[in-house]
Amino acid sequence: MNEIKIFSPATVANVSCGFDVLGFCLDTIGDDMVIRKTNKKGIHITKIEGYDLPFEAKKNVAGVSALAMLEDAKPDFGFEIEIYKNIKPGSGVGSSSASAVGSVFGMNELLGRPYNKTQLTNFAMKGEALASQCEHADNIAPAIFGGFTLVKSVAPLDILQLPTPNDLFAVIIHPQIEIKTSDARAILPKKIDLKDAITQWSNVGSLVHALHTNDYKLLSNSLTDVVVEPFRSQLIPYFEDVKKSALDHGALGCGISGSGPSIFSLCYGNDTTQKVAKAIKNIYAETGISYEIYVSKINTEGIKILNTHQ
Ligand code: HSE
Repeated sequence: MNEIKIFSPATVANVSCGFDVLGFCLDTIGDDMVIRKTNKKGIHITKIEGYDLPFEAKKNVAGVSALAMLEDAKPDFGFEIEIYKNIKPGSGVGSSSASAVGSVFGMNELLGRPYNKTQLTNFAMKGEALASQCEHADNIAPAIFGGFTLVKSVAPLDILQLPTPNDLFAVIIHPQIEIKTSDARAILPKKIDLKDAITQWSNVGSLVHALHTNDYKLLSNSLTDVVVEPFRSQLIPYFEDVKKSALDHGALGCGISGSGPSIFSLCYGNDTTQKVAKAIKNIYAETGISYEIYVSKINTEGIKILNTHQ
C-alpha cells in the first residue's frame, strides 16, 4: 500500500466534569486526509484545503505528529500529506487533534501497523501540543479509540476505553467565533477549592459508572462542571441561554465542548435530540451570530480508512 485516505473525526473533550481526561468521538463531522509514501525523505504537506494552515511540517500539527513518528520509525522513505479540513480551527471540537491523529494513523497503516493505539496517541500529542501549548490527550484518545475515553495518565500514557450507551446522541452548536485553546487555558485558576474538587471527582466517577451501567439518569446528574465552566462560559455568547434551553427540552446535560466556543448537549434518543437541536438553534438564530449545528451519534469506531491505493 502506497497511499491511504482517511476520515479523522471531530471529538468533544472534557465532557463537563472531566477536564483534560474525558472525551467522546463524533461521526458526522471530521477531516479527510490523504497520506502517501514518497521517495523523498521527510514529511511534506502538499495540499491543504478548507482553512489557511501552515505548509511547513514543523509548524503544522499534522506535520509535528508525523515528524515525531518519523523520528522513531526511521523509514528509508518519506510521506506526503494532503489535508482536507472541514473542522474549523479553534472551534472546540478537536480540530487540531483530528489533524494530529490523521497523519500518524495513516502513516502507521502505510508502515504496516508497527504502533498500537496508545503509541499513536503519544505521537499525536506532540502535534496537539503545538496548538494548545500543553500535551493533553482528551481529544486525541477518542479520535483514535472511538467512543468515550478517559486519559488516566499522560506520562506514562494510559488510556481507558469506556462503554458507549446505545441511545446516546450529541448536539453541537458552533458559534462562528474563535477561541484559542491556549487562551482558554490561560484564564483558568491554578488552584481550586477542596469543596469544588470533591464535587468534580464525584461527578467524574459517577459519569464513568453511568456509562458502564447505561444509567441515563445518573449520567445526566453527573454532567456538571464546577471547576472550568464558570470561567470559560464567559467567553461564549449566550452560553447560559443555550444550556437552559437544552436542559428545558430534555437534554441529559449541556456544557462547553473542549475549550469552546462549541457547546455540546448529550441526549437520550433521536426525538429528544431533534427537539434540543431545534431549540438551541432558535437561541442563536435570534442573536445575529452565525453558527453551525451538528447532530451526531457517538462514533464508537473512531478514525477510519476511506480507501487505499497501491
Ligand atoms: N482539555 C482541553 C481543554 C481540550 O479544555 O483545554 C481542548 O484542547
